[in-house]
Order: sequence, then C-alpha cells, then structure tokens
Amino acid sequence: MSHAVPGYRDNPTPPWDPDAPVDAIEAEEFLRLCYREDTRLGPVEPRLSVVRAQIAATGTYAQTADEVAYGAKVAWRNASRCIGRLYWRSLVVLDRRDARTADDVFALLLRHLRQATGIGTPGQLRPIISIFAPATPGRPYPRIWNEQLIRYAGYRRSDGSVLGDPRMVEFTEAMTARGWRGAGTDHDVLPVAIETPEEGVRLFELPGQAVLEVPLTHPDLPWFEELGLHWYAVPAVTNMRLTIGGLHYPLAPFNGWYMGTEIGARSFGDADRYDVVPEVAKRMGLDTSSEGTLWRDRALIELNRAVLHSFDRAGVKISDHHTESERFLSHLRNEERAGRQVPADWSWIVPPISGSATPVFHRYYHEADLRPAFYLDEDAHERALRPDRRKPSASER
Ligand code: ARG
Repeated sequence: MSHAVPGYRDNPTPPWDPDAPVDAIEAEEFLRLCYREDTRLGPVEPRLSVVRAQIAATGTYAQTADEVAYGAKVAWRNASRCIGRLYWRSLVVLDRRDARTADDVFALLLRHLRQATGIGTPGQLRPIISIFAPATPGRPYPRIWNEQLIRYAGYRRSDGSVLGDPRMVEFTEAMTARGWRGAGTDHDVLPVAIETPEEGVRLFELPGQAVLEVPLTHPDLPWFEELGLHWYAVPAVTNMRLTIGGLHYPLAPFNGWYMGTEIGARSFGDADRYDVVPEVAKRMGLDTSSEGTLWRDRALIELNRAVLHSFDRAGVKISDHHTESERFLSHLRNEERAGRQVPADWSWIVPPISGSATPVFHRYYHEADLRPAFYLDEDAHERALRPDRRKPSASER
C-alpha cells in the first residue's frame, strides 16, 4: 500500500549527491571484494594503484567490464527486498556504457527486452541487466522516467474511477501532456520516457511484438476469462540506481521473472490497483455479508491460481511463493557456507498471501546495507509516479 506509516523506514536509500566526487574508500573496498571473490581477475594491488591515481587526478575512475559485471551481480545478491536471489551469479550483464543518444538507449532497451523475453523461445525469461554510462560528478545524466519498462496506463474517468492501472494515473497524464495518446483500454502499454541532457525527455512506443502478454484464465472457473485480465511477462525495473565501488549508474534497467503473488495479490488484488477481488468473489458466489466468511482470502487464492495457471499454459516463466521461498532458503544456506551474511527485509521477503505457510516467515534476517547495491532514490520514485508534481532535484536547480 502507498500509505506512509509515521516513523517507518519505507525507503532505506541513503541520500545521494550526484555532484560529490567518487568515494575512494568505497572504490577500494569494492575492488578488494571483487578480486577476492572472482579470482580469475588476478591480484588487486596493481589495479588499486591505477584506480587511486585516476581518482586523485580526475575525481572519478573507469571500471573494467569484469568489474561492472561482477559488481552488478553482487548488487543483486545484496538486494534485501528480493526473494529471488538464488541465481545471482547467472545474471546476464549487458555493458551499454557507450550509448549516448535517446535513440541508442531505446534501441538497446529493445534488445534487452527481446533477450529477456527469450529469443527463439518466448517465455523462457532470463535475468538481465543493461548498464548505461555512470553519472559524472557535476554533470547531468541520462535516465528513464518510468518505474518499469512495461507498465499499463491508468486513465481517470470523470466520475473519479480509473480505467487501467490506478498506480500509473499521474504518469499517464504526464505522457499525455507530452503528446502521447493511448488506445483507451485497461492494459495500454505506456511509452518509455528517456531523458538525456542534450535532448530533454523523449517518448518511445514499445512495438507490440516486443511485449509478451498473458491473458488470464482459471483452471476450473470458466467465467474467469470474461474478466478480460492480462499481464505482461517481463518485470523490468528501470528507475533504480546501481552503485558499484563509489560509481553510480542511474540508468541500469534489470529484469527477472515474476513471482505469481506480485500480479495476483498486489497488481490485481490491492484496493488501490486493479482491485478485482470483490468482482471475483461475486462471480464465485461467495457470501460477502461479513468479513468472517473469508471471502476476500478465498477470492485472492483463486486469482493467484489463475495467474500461475495462465503463465504456465502460455509457457511463460513464473514461480509460486512456496517454491521461491524454498529457493531463498537455499540461497541463505549457500551464502552462509561462503561465510557471508544475507541482508534481507522481512516485510518484503514474506509473500503477501499465505505468509506463514512459507518458511521465510518463520525467522528474522540481517538488515545490513551492503554495497554494491540498487537504490531507489526519492527523486526517481517521484518521477515515476508523479512526474509533474515533483520538486526539482538539486542538480536541476
Ligand atoms: N513487484 C513489481 C511488479 O509487480 C515487480 C518488481 C520486480 N519483480 C521481479 N519478480 N523481478 O510489477
């Protein structure tokens, strides 16, 4: 839910000053970690002297492709809200640091999406990250406004109700104000808003064949498909900053695959999202006269069955929260064996339905903020949800 609970740390991102020079200590700590864990890279000392000299002379330094790739994997390993970290080593890293123009960025995003969706076998999703140029202290940097590469528009109707995804209403209005027009369905794919210092913000439409979608049906409720629900296959987060060794990559979109509850419990279940639970309960003929009949729970479970069933039937990779919880415990065991702590945020790791039926519920976790890391900056978060209501950030003033 979007309600901020007073005193609750709902965004643990430490403040970032894009004008600050690179932190030489963080650079050194990262390089030591990287060369210690990835022994193919050789001894770290010669590399450290080169980097120290570069930082002293220019205020920043360039990372090698191996360093960027390993740093991105470790940032995933450190992502305390992610339950899916077992496969952190297999992240595919696309080094896109040379791309400059918005056209280049968009073309590379399309390649990312195609590879993520599964070339040859659409639906066989692959976790991938595309890493664009790092921010240079004191200079504006390219970024994507959207929170995900694929999201559905939300249109406010005159009676105050919303067609589509209510979460995206203000973003949709911002796109409309900049000349975009959606078809007006409840699952119109939003354009990608790419901002570069030279070109300002430009909108790009994802071609239909680039966006794999799954229509929802239910294994034994034939009326379910009449609800006309669809969701997209690839969750690709586009507004988190990747920080590796004191460098910051504000444009580093990454994707995995869905855990069913993200769609079935949250996107379709939340009252401030598609909110279809009451309709599902009605169609199921449930007694909604009192909360004690647990009609909400029963409808939510069927909604989640529909999501898993439909993705499976369409051959699109997805996993259920029981399997993903078991995998997370394997990850904890692996990491423990490697002598590492696993930072984790209980409130994000525990699935939104049937929490106590999964093993991740029954324990506590380390809450450390380890780097490399992905951070969601306040400014990026606001830009994705309320682009035209944001306060300009320090570097824009
Ligand atoms: N929770 C987000 C959504 O519902 C996606 C976040 C990333 N999820 C993932 N499985 N990689 O769209």
